[in-house]
This record gives sequence, structure tokens and C-alpha cells, in this order.
Amino acid sequence: MLPMPTEGWVAGPGGPLRGIVRVPGDKSVSHRAVMLGALAEGVTHVRGFLEGEDTRATARVFEQLGVRIETPSASERIVHGVGLHGLRASGTVLDCGNAGTGMRLLAGVLAAQRFDSVLVGDASLSQRPMHRVIEPLTAMGARIDAEAGGLPPLRIHGGRLLHGIDYAPPVASAQVKSALLLAGLYAQGETIVREPHPTRDYTERMLAAFGWPIAFAPGVARLSGGHVLRATDVEVPADFSSAAFLMVAASIVPGSDLRIEAVGMNPRRTGLLRVLRAMGADIEAAEPREHGGEPVADLRVRHATLRGIEVSEAVVPDMIDEFPALFVAAACARGITVIRGAGELRVKESDRIATMAAGLRMLGIVIQETPDGAVITGGRIGGGIVESHGDHRIAMSFAVAAQLAGDEVRINDVANVATSFPGFMSAATAAGLALRNA
Ligand code: S3P
Repeated sequence: MLPMPTEGWVAGPGGPLRGIVRVPGDKSVSHRAVMLGALAEGVTHVRGFLEGEDTRATARVFEQLGVRIETPSASERIVHGVGLHGLRASGTVLDCGNAGTGMRLLAGVLAAQRFDSVLVGDASLSQRPMHRVIEPLTAMGARIDAEAGGLPPLRIHGGRLLHGIDYAPPVASAQVKSALLLAGLYAQGETIVREPHPTRDYTERMLAAFGWPIAFAPGVARLSGGHVLRATDVEVPADFSSAAFLMVAASIVPGSDLRIEAVGMNPRRTGLLRVLRAMGADIEAAEPREHGGEPVADLRVRHATLRGIEVSEAVVPDMIDEFPALFVAAACARGITVIRGAGELRVKESDRIATMAAGLRMLGIVIQETPDGAVITGGRIGGGIVESHGDHRIAMSFAVAAQLAGDEVRINDVANVATSFPGFMSAATAAGLALRNA
């Protein structure tokens, strides 16, 4: 049989990025809004919901579990909460698609139900480690069977009585922390998560907004079972991770002056901004304000000459999704950029160190892979063909890199861009990127 053709793009070379753009709602916040809305008492109105495949998969899973979710208009959901104990068994497997966040957080919720569930994912998610949630959830009393190596599908046994634990995960992961906190809602006693480095705190903030007593500070969160979630309205800020591609594009292409509106500025997400500024980027955060309890700002990004730097390991969790975009900035910078302490990139939607290194090398950049990072020598980007391995952020990063390329870049396997940034093509071309379907 012939291999199926994969969707592709042809990108670059392009001119300056200009004008005003908006990017879609935050993926992390959208997942959590549906989850907490479903488990709450009352009706939760979510505005700015990300219409991405990942977050829609989570909404579909809760519908399968008996939750009514209305879509009055695009980017809007009305979630009719069933309360902590109101979910019902689904007759079929629950498909999380490409979403690691969906699967890991759901594992925490489902481990505490009276009924059994099976969580499945696509080819990429089926290769991602679930041991990191299975082990601590098992320590709380859950029973979860996985495939060899702790891979999905996850068979989650219901009817288990959970108890709180005091847990220090070996990896800094908001998904692990959140899975345990969600299981902790149902557990007897206190659940405490102590992280090796602080990670995004949306679960903690949103639990508090839904009225659950929770104590948290950077790197630690604790809560007890036995309370009630009360429905509330959620306004989802624009996703910093989606804005990141346009920030890098406008930084590297001469003549650019782009405004990206109302971008989420939670400090646990904005590590790339700090790193780009340290590289010499000209990015101004204008009109700081709050949007649904989260800080947002309009980002004005003007072209600047970037310099290579040593990226501090401490900033890694604050920009864990932005490394593909940073690799591109580093490839376009003067000098050498060194990245360390980012081994987690190897277990994302693809092995992001390997896929970025292979693609940049194809385009003529000198890059040395290390087990937990890379050493990237800035240079001239050439045309060529690169593989995104079905990883949304890799595809978008190469679309950005191509803008400075000497010739066109063909990017293969881009369909998964819709998991996090539906409408990337139109937002990017509106801003001035040269990008079309292959
Ligand atoms: C996320 C946490 C991060 C991030 C992912 C979203 C979340 O994953 O990479 O895109 O919403 O909690 P890890 O917790 O595995 O680092």
C-alpha cells in the first residue's frame, strides 16, 4: 500500500510582519475550564474557549461521561455541571486525541469514580509516558493498567477509595500536579504536591475560583477532599504559546512591527519573553490588565538583531512549550545559544530536540543535540524539506524559520496544528508570513 500523503505547507521567504493580530484562547485554561465546569454544581459559562482539537476532545469526553455542554457560538461553552459525583460511565472508550493534558488530568478525575473507564489517544499520545501519573495515583489508592512501558491506553478501575498523599514529583510537570490535585478532590485527607521547579498554576487558581479551599505558592499546592465546586464563569486569555510563534517571527524578520493583542502573561508561561529580551529582542508589553483573573497585555514586537545566549535551566518550566520557537530564534541569532536541563522536550508531542535539530540541519544550520538540550550556532537558513512528525509546534516553528530562508521551505505533516492553533494559517498570513498549503 502507498503511504498516505500528509498535509503540508510551503513557507517563506517572507517580508516584514505588521499590523494587529489576535491569537486563540489558552489551551491549558480551556481544558481546565471544561473539567472543573463539569464537576461543579451549577452552570459554567466559558468565553474565549480554544476551538482546538485537543480541548474539543476533552469536552467530548465529558459529554460521553454525561455532562451537557452547549456551544452557543464559536469559542463559547456552557457547561452544565453534574457535581463531583455526577459523572456516568461511558459505554465506549474515551478518546483524548493528541492531548497529553487531557489524558493526564482525566486520569486523576477518573481514578476516583465509581465506574471503570478507558482513555485512548492518537499515535503520538500513545507513545507518551503515563507512568508519571499512574505511580502517584496508585499511591493514592487508584488502580490503573497501562500498556508495557506505562503507555496508553489507560484502563482505570472505578470504585477505589482514594487517600491524600504528600508527593514530590521527580519532573516539574503541571499535568502531574494537576492530575493529583483533581484526584485529591475526592481523596480522604490532604493531598500535597511539592514540585522540583514551579509550573503553571492554572489548576490551583481555577479551583480557588470555583470555591475549593486550596493553599498554593510557587512550587507547592495542597488541598483536602470533601468540599464542593461551585460553577463560575471563566474568561480564557489568549494563549502565550500561540503568540510565541508570531513574536519570534516579528523579532527575526527585518522591518517587522507587530502588535499581538490581549496575550496571557502568567509568569509561569512567559519565560520565552524573558529569554528573547536577553537575546536583544524588542518586545514591549503594553496596557497590562486582567482578563478573567489572569494578567494579559498587548505585545508590540519590533525586529531586532538577536544574540545567542546560555539559557538558564531555571527558566525551562516557564517556557516548556516554547523551545521549538526558541530554536528558531537561536538559529537566526548571532553566535551560539546553549540550552540545558530541557530533557522533558524529548517526551512532548514529538521528541522536540531531535525533530528541531533534524529540521534545522536540513535548512543548513549547525546544531548539536545533547541529551537534555542543544547547542545552536546562528547562521543562514536555506530552503528545503522538513518533517514536523505531526507535532503542531514544530510545524509552526518551521513556518517561522522559513520567513528568513533563502528559498521556500516545505513542511510536512502539519494537520495537528489544529490541536492548539486553529486558524494559524490566516492569522500568520494576515500578519505577513509567506505561507500556503502545499
Ligand atoms: C500543560 C503542561 C505542560 C505543557 C503542556 C500543557 C498543562 O506539560 O507542556 O502543553 O496544561 O498542564 P507538562 O506538565 O508535561 O510539562
